[in-house]
Amino acid sequence: MAAIQSVMQETRVIAPPQGMVEGAAVSGMPAYQALVAEAERDFEGFWARLAREHLEWKKPFTKVLDSSAAPFFKWFEDGKLNASYNCLDRQVAAGLGDKVAIRFESDDGQVTPVTYKALLARVCRLANALKAMGIKAGDRVIIYMPMTVEGVMAMQACARIGATHSVVFGGFSAKSLHERIIDAGAVAILTADEQMRGGKALPIKSIVDEALAMGGCEAVRNVVVYRRTAGAVAMTAGRDQWLHDLEAGQADTCEPEWVSAEHPLFILYTSGSTGRPKGIQHSTGGYLLWALLTMKWTFDIKPGDVFWCTADIGWVTGHSYVAYGPLAAGATEIVFEGVPTYPNAGRFWDMIARHKCSIFYTAPTAIRSLIKACDVDPAAHPKKRDLSSLRILGSVGEPINPEAWMWYHDNVGGGRCPIVDTFWQTETGGHMITPLPGATPLVPGSCTLPLPGIFAAIVDETGHDVENGNGGILVVKKPWPSMLRTIWGDPERYRKTYFPAELGGNLYLAGDGAVRDRVSGYFTIMGRIDDVLNVSGHRLGTMEIESALVANSRLVAEAAVVGRPDDMTGEAVVAFVVLKGKRPEGEDAKAMARELRDWVGREIGPIAKPKEIRFGDNLPKTRSGKIMRRLLRTIARGEEITQDVSTLENPAILEQLKRAI
Ligand code: PRX
Repeated sequence: MAAIQSVMQETRVIAPPQGMVEGAAVSGMPAYQALVAEAERDFEGFWARLAREHLEWKKPFTKVLDSSAAPFFKWFEDGKLNASYNCLDRQVAAGLGDKVAIRFESDDGQVTPVTYKALLARVCRLANALKAMGIKAGDRVIIYMPMTVEGVMAMQACARIGATHSVVFGGFSAKSLHERIIDAGAVAILTADEQMRGGKALPIKSIVDEALAMGGCEAVRNVVVYRRTAGAVAMTAGRDQWLHDLEAGQADTCEPEWVSAEHPLFILYTSGSTGRPKGIQHSTGGYLLWALLTMKWTFDIKPGDVFWCTADIGWVTGHSYVAYGPLAAGATEIVFEGVPTYPNAGRFWDMIARHKCSIFYTAPTAIRSLIKACDVDPAAHPKKRDLSSLRILGSVGEPINPEAWMWYHDNVGGGRCPIVDTFWQTETGGHMITPLPGATPLVPGSCTLPLPGIFAAIVDETGHDVENGNGGILVVKKPWPSMLRTIWGDPERYRKTYFPAELGGNLYLAGDGAVRDRVSGYFTIMGRIDDVLNVSGHRLGTMEIESALVANSRLVAEAAVVGRPDDMTGEAVVAFVVLKGKRPEGEDAKAMARELRDWVGREIGPIAKPKEIRFGDNLPKTRSGKIMRRLLRTIARGEEITQDVSTLENPAILEQLKRAI
């Protein structure tokens, strides 16, 4: 144990509780090490064993991994299965039909339990309705829905008929939605009339209408609308239909479409450092295997658990740990429509107590904001509730600072629940580096060790291993079943982005910097090394925000966007803008900043609004006209400029931008 004590000077090491080790899916470090060794000894045999043991196959696979077209890997390709079958029918067949699959809690606190049997029946009805519209395996369907049972149903129904879904987070703008509809080549959209958040009804269907009106969406022939609020919405005859009408006319059984393990289960758009968001394409077999297996390994899911992942289905966490993993594990999960601060900042803790939640999985941003909320409203403190049902806590999406970790551990977990700090990405499909609750000694702020079968490493710019204790580039050296298969419609971008030639072309580049502890080998993630920002656990490309700003051609001449650390949101977006007109000052600058923030909100979505906008007469550029973003980052952080500025065309601009706050 002493070995681990040097992680980032962090001296606290917390051993797994004895009661947790016994009976855990991975029980104790020797069990973890045995799995790691098995994967090292017989890589394909290891994955084949797990895929056979954990999934139900209609037709067993005969070949495990096909690397012949690397880095386009194929796993279990000649095997056939269905994701929805593995999540629903399989549980009913095992006698869990009357077990609650989803305990839905609405924004206003109403609780609706849905059993596996009932969920299966509704998924089948919707699947039949989609088939009746002519939607078939391989067609793309956009899901733009709030966090509801119907959202999960929509994903499961697509999976059932082999249609590839692409969920778009309900906070994205009509323009972002439009982009995704076009890129995916969608034939249908599943949506809702409105969504409820924090006591307010927000539009959804009207945003779909707006997106479709932007043109080029002729392939979209059907829009299915879930009536959530019964607010007034326009329905286009011949195109739009109510979900309840469709369900009413269909049988509650539907033979699943048996697809190849490589069949694309979904496309999920995420931000990169350049260009438009990329459609990350995931498989059926490999993806589902990992969603399920990590439920067992990382969350040690047991039949009596009540699992709650707070992520929205619009993000990958909501795919793997709301829509697929918990159901594939036959668990009872909570699906929550609302926000953590409504009706007050004690909502999460009240819900844990009310539902006797035993495994709770959320993002550091939420924890940090709820810590702060306790200062304002002591009644919101978790210690004011009975949280004794909890046994495991999880964290995801961004680095968790040791202070927030300790608060979470002591105040939410009562000092007895291990925290699994899970590092992974949209591209990885499921957890990559994480503690296991019944095995790994914990160190606050470290995601500890890779899961068995995941060959994570840290290398330098040329792809060579760096010694422990030195920071470097996080890579994965071997493929794994739930890895992305390609970028939808752009295989070359996939190859260049994730398997860059500079690193030798065969290492998966995560895009994060990391360091391993000298002694224990524990990983600590240092954050993105590209132009991707992580704001409240949401991934944003600086280039996307720049493009959104300059798209305002009436006002904006030039823009550069950088990130700066933020106590609450992890990172914050700072934009430097050169206007076409006069540089505004004082109140004028404030009003202009407001206008541009709202503009970005409409272009991308409210999550992308810059926290700060600084106006200048110009941007710092080299003589060849390249914007020096490094300098802008320094200015955004409020730090002194120590970099060499001799190559700068216009050094005086630095002073102006520094003062422009
Ligand atoms: O920078 C890492 C950070 O989130 C990025 C992936 O974002 P996304 O694809 O949106 O998926 C988020 C949910 C899996 C990573 O490149 N990240 C994610 N989890 C952690 C993290 N950084 C530190 N610690 C984590 N546990």
